[in-house]
Amino acid sequence: MSDQQKTPSADQLKVGIAGLGTVGTGVIKIISQQADILRQRTGRDIVIKGVSARDPKKLRDVDLSAFEWFGDPMRLAREADIDIYVELMGGADGIALASVEGALKRGVDVVTANKALMAAHGTRLAQVAEENNAVLAYEAAIAGGIPIVKALREGLAGNGIDRIYGILNGTCNYILTTMEKTGRPFKDVLADAQDQGYAEADPSFDIGGIDAAHKLSVLAALAFGRAVDFDAVYVEGIERIGAEDIAYASEFGYRIKLIGAAKRTAHGIEQRVHPCLVPLDTPIASVDDVYNAVVVEGDAVGQATFEGRGAGEGPTASAVTADIADIARGLRLPTFSIPAAELAPAQASPMEHHEGAYYLRLNVLDKPGVMAAITIILAEAQVSIASIIQRGRSTEEAVPIVILTHETREAVMMAALDKIRAHEAVMEEPHVIRIETF
Ligand SMILES: NC(=O)c1ccc[n+]([C@@H]2O[C@H](COP(=O)([O-])OP(=O)(O)OC[C@H]3O[C@@H](n4cnc5c(N)ncnc54)[C@H](OP(=O)(O)O)[C@@H]3O)[C@@H](O)[C@H]2O)c1
Repeated sequence: MSDQQKTPSADQLKVGIAGLGTVGTGVIKIISQQADILRQRTGRDIVIKGVSARDPKKLRDVDLSAFEWFGDPMRLAREADIDIYVELMGGADGIALASVEGALKRGVDVVTANKALMAAHGTRLAQVAEENNAVLAYEAAIAGGIPIVKALREGLAGNGIDRIYGILNGTCNYILTTMEKTGRPFKDVLADAQDQGYAEADPSFDIGGIDAAHKLSVLAALAFGRAVDFDAVYVEGIERIGAEDIAYASEFGYRIKLIGAAKRTAHGIEQRVHPCLVPLDTPIASVDDVYNAVVVEGDAVGQATFEGRGAGEGPTASAVTADIADIARGLRLPTFSIPAAELAPAQASPMEHHEGAYYLRLNVLDKPGVMAAITIILAEAQVSIASIIQRGRSTEEAVPIVILTHETREAVMMAALDKIRAHEAVMEEPHVIRIETF
């Protein structure tokens, strides 16, 4: 350590950063490029003291020469002379969890962008933070650059919140938007997204809805003052959405979006992430490409919509820096708005109780009586049909039937689908997409 590094100063906020990838290098750039603004706004010098990553020889597009290198993030978290430990490595467990816990246990504040960690261990880490009088901040973990944690915890503090929903994964939104613009199939667009860096080499967390579910479970905890309950989130990804579904949805006046939604119901808290048909005239329908949006329904404010870039170096580093700036100013708020000891587990409302309308696309043999048989199955289940499209004529190949239903219960719809699936003329697994009204 240099003499300057050892000199304590009340005006300095000493930061250690573990993880020097997309987000970590972005944070270093903002802290150095905006040093004057940050000093004016917080009254303190934000000084990076130590950094850690796996490979000390890797070429990174920031100058690390002024910072002490820690080969082991645990040492940075537990031993370095720092006020804030910034965890930007990722992963729900392992070194991310151990080092965050290590820092909190010695009373060092933590800033993280790690939604997997917060979804898996958020409630317990909030308790550890509180017991050690430390702050656990995670703005960057949800919807990247959109300051939604700050909005919920501070700006909307006077509201009871009954529903929160949004587009929480930029990769899925980019893929769905591009499929719509180009008419190309899911697999091709995913491959392009990977080439352009919008999707990870292993995209399963994004396209399977897991990433959005991580964020939703943390948002729900914050909005409803409950323990994080990731396991209660119903999750479906966008893998089965076809270009034809997007085209049919458009004919009916909808767009397809991967939506994460949480609300209070008579049965408990419903949390779900799945593709939805959203009406074209709702604000969320026009959120395109890598953009995210979060809509909060508060009893005093009504509907408040937040939109912005959900990922990438700049937006994510912007959120990390905002958390650092809050700590520099002395803002010390409970992780999930209320004391950690009061974060009780919530009753989870199972998906069978979900109520909504449905889009069905069936590939059926074009034989007399098939359409009638399907409509009878739906009628017997008390599912009423809002619209039907039937296209094509072919004696050998299957033809599509597309049906929009009126509102019904998920359990009723799934029972009807079992009968439809079993019908001899239904040639492939039905495509089912829920319709969301806001
Ligand atoms: N990228 C985004 O747009 C975005 C948006 C929101 C949230 N996040 C979250 O931010 C976090 C970081 O994401 P990222 O995109 O910046 O990841 P990344 O580019 O893959 O960088 C990860 C960094 O962590 C370091 N690292 C990994 N394991 C380590 C270990 N065991 N010991 C020391 N260092 C280790 C890596 O070191 P090497 O460089 O030496 O390999 C690398 O510098 C994740 O939690 C992610 O979910 C990212």
